[in-house]
Amino acid sequence: MSQDTIKFAYWVPNVSGGLVVSKIEQRTDWGIDYNRKLAQIAEAAGFDYALSQVRFTAGYGAEYQHESVAFSHALLAATTRLKVIAAVLPGPWTPSVLAKQIATIDHLTGGRVAVNIVSGWFKGEFTAIGEPWLEHDERYRRSEEFITALKGIWTTDNFTLRGDFYRFHDYTLKPKPLQQHPEIFQGGSSRAARDMAARVSDWYFTNGNTVEGVKAQIDDLQAKAAANHHKVKVGVNAFVIARDTEEEARAVLAQIIDQADPEAVNAFGDAAKQAGKSSPEGEGNWAKSSFEDLVQYNDGFKTNLIGTPQQIAERIVALKAVGVDLVLAGFLHFQEEVEYFGRKVLPLVRELEQRKVAAKTAAVA
Ligand SMILES: Cc1cc2nc3c(=O)[nH]c(=O)nc-3n(C[C@H](O)[C@H](O)[C@H](O)COP(=O)(O)O)c2cc1C
Repeated sequence: MSQDTIKFAYWVPNVSGGLVVSKIEQRTDWGIDYNRKLAQIAEAAGFDYALSQVRFTAGYGAEYQHESVAFSHALLAATTRLKVIAAVLPGPWTPSVLAKQIATIDHLTGGRVAVNIVSGWFKGEFTAIGEPWLEHDERYRRSEEFITALKGIWTTDNFTLRGDFYRFHDYTLKPKPLQQHPEIFQGGSSRAARDMAARVSDWYFTNGNTVEGVKAQIDDLQAKAAANHHKVKVGVNAFVIARDTEEEARAVLAQIIDQADPEAVNAFGDAAKQAGKSSPEGEGNWAKSSFEDLVQYNDGFKTNLIGTPQQIAERIVALKAVGVDLVLAGFLHFQEEVEYFGRKVLPLVRELEQRKVAAKTAAVA
């Protein structure tokens, strides 16, 4: 069990349409003014990280998309403590360009940038930008080499790699990033995703799931990581609907699903399920998602952070007890709900964490 306090990240809405594929009103905006203010609110509310999204074309709505590395830098420039995770895809990015970009941003922002290495699920997007579409496990083999290259460039001089996808010869990056190496996140649920996390990533992000589902994934991941002598932390996605009463929160969920855009949800579902099933064992993200689950495109309802602040805080502490280190939160009305979360939910989480520590200490004494 993790001894530290659980960390919080929020999804940066840098693509249009919010985080649910529904016609319900979403008081959010993908533009920079809204996002700068949101980052400042999140930092004041006690969030540790912001996660940007990488997207080159529309797929389920998401008609407009700001580029993630540039956008992350703007959010870092507008804050002082928040860490911002820039999402990138091997393919369009090469490790040489990304290592350099991130090293510079790290210097510009006092060492607060991180990266999310996204392996890709959306074939239409790759076709649109003229990138070859590798088969599922090949995408992960490439991502692993990408991460190995990034770490090598960031931490050593005279870096040499003769890989299947990337080659470096006696390369020394100057300046190196301020942080020893900026944290490396990755997403995915498939066997290949977990195996990569158990070997090279600092953080493993998974789609929303029940506590039991998350536990099964974490047990599997951590057993493999231990065998590899590798340390990896875990973040879980959740769509948070915190309201003063449970009825209000449940009513909001019902409205989101009632007003779901079936065409867009089904178009996303077709692409996502193809991606989920295309991993050899068929356990990729979305392989088991229902229509309702897909309305939040990373299965965020399944985590069930929907209810009163007290209910949500208790569920977060239950997630922590099975090995979750970070909750990645999405919201309907970002600015107002991030503020509410910081004021009402976070203090309860800290209180429950304190009580657990005190109970443990008393049991030992
Ligand atoms: C928290 C999280 C964030 C993700 N962010 C992005 C993103 O910004 N862009 C993208 O194309 N895919 C994103 N993905 C998709 C994953 O990188 C991966 O392609 C997908 O989960 C399918 O993986 P699997 O088949 O291994 O389960 C994200 C996944 C998770 C869990």
